[in-house]
Amino acid sequence: MRRSLRSLVVATAAAALVLPLWGATAANAEPPGYSHADKDTLRNQAPRDLAIGSAVWGKRDLVDYDRSAPTEYQQVLSAQFSSLTPENDMKWDAVHPAPDVYDFSSADALVAFAKANHQQVRGHTLLWHSQNPAWVTAASQTWTCDQARAVLEDHIRTVVGHFKGEIYEWDVANEIFQDTWDNGGVRLRTEANPFLKACAADPIALLEDAFRWAHEADPEAVLFLNDYNAEGINEKTDAYYALAQRMLADGVPLGGFGAQGHLSLLYGFDTSIQANFERFAALGLQVAVTEADVRIPLQAGETGPTPEQVAVQAERYDAMLEACLNVTACSSFTVWGFPDANSWVPDVFPGEGWATILEDDYSPKPAFDAMLESLREATPGTSPRHG
Ligand code: XIL
Repeated sequence: MRRSLRSLVVATAAAALVLPLWGATAANAEPPGYSHADKDTLRNQAPRDLAIGSAVWGKRDLVDYDRSAPTEYQQVLSAQFSSLTPENDMKWDAVHPAPDVYDFSSADALVAFAKANHQQVRGHTLLWHSQNPAWVTAASQTWTCDQARAVLEDHIRTVVGHFKGEIYEWDVANEIFQDTWDNGGVRLRTEANPFLKACAADPIALLEDAFRWAHEADPEAVLFLNDYNAEGINEKTDAYYALAQRMLADGVPLGGFGAQGHLSLLYGFDTSIQANFERFAALGLQVAVTEADVRIPLQAGETGPTPEQVAVQAERYDAMLEACLNVTACSSFTVWGFPDANSWVPDVFPGEGWATILEDDYSPKPAFDAMLESLREATPGTSPRHG
């Protein structure tokens, strides 16, 4: 009797112990099609300190997410990547459609997907000349710098505050330098960017405050400058390097420099990307490849690229990844979406395409295989620099 009572108590205690655990396990159960047991994925082969990400358009691809029945796209997204960047969902026009209206619905769906699949989120973006809502474009025609500052401060505090604790890296300022071929050459975009324009007398003061506001709203997030044509050492990255030095000297909470990595086979590849990353890392900053894709010029009537083009694409993706793997301070490597059917490239660069690492049926391209191989070869748990 005593004995059986004791067994009952033990059994009850065990059940009390086991039940919550079992409950937690059930709550965190991996959705169908996604298995941590599959070691041969980008995210699982990555050194422990390097996030492997993809852009995803939450509004298009994740709003109907059902954990018990993910789409094939969603299965690949969760299986291969440990980080997500909202391709559009956190941009001004998405989250702040009217002066007093914030809409986080699709961005929240993305963050929820990321959480369910043990992924981190890169925030993108808070100060940019593109994809601003019509009301900003209209109002900015008559903004004083104080008015522009007030609007930007409210936006940054509200958006970064909303996602506090959910975002590991924020692209605070995006594409704030012109290109060499733009009117006036490489200098801050004080014409195209409505905020910098209103504060053209001292645009750096505004920029620095943008980082301060973001930092106050989420002290944990690492705050990035981010741009294209910013892979190698060139006039634009020289300008960023000088800006970064100035911001750090001013005590601004700048934490990282992001090279977007939008490459095209129409142009050469600047192999100084690792040296460029190393100089930013030497300032104490993190670096990242934030939007990698490699587009290919396609002749009208051709169904796909030539084997040579496919091989060069693989080399370029891999070269960007290798630069990241070789620099300890490289914290994330993100591809700008997949598969080709989801890519922004054909819409923006007529005559170019086939830019992502997966075919439309999600089968891997040589670029994917090259990246997976490089990740496999990287010293587990650390980057090669440490190894
Ligand atoms: C692109 C998106 O991929 C498109 O869907 C959208 O129509 C335009 O913007 N640099 C950036 C990204 O920082 O935000 C851009 O994303 C691609 C270039």
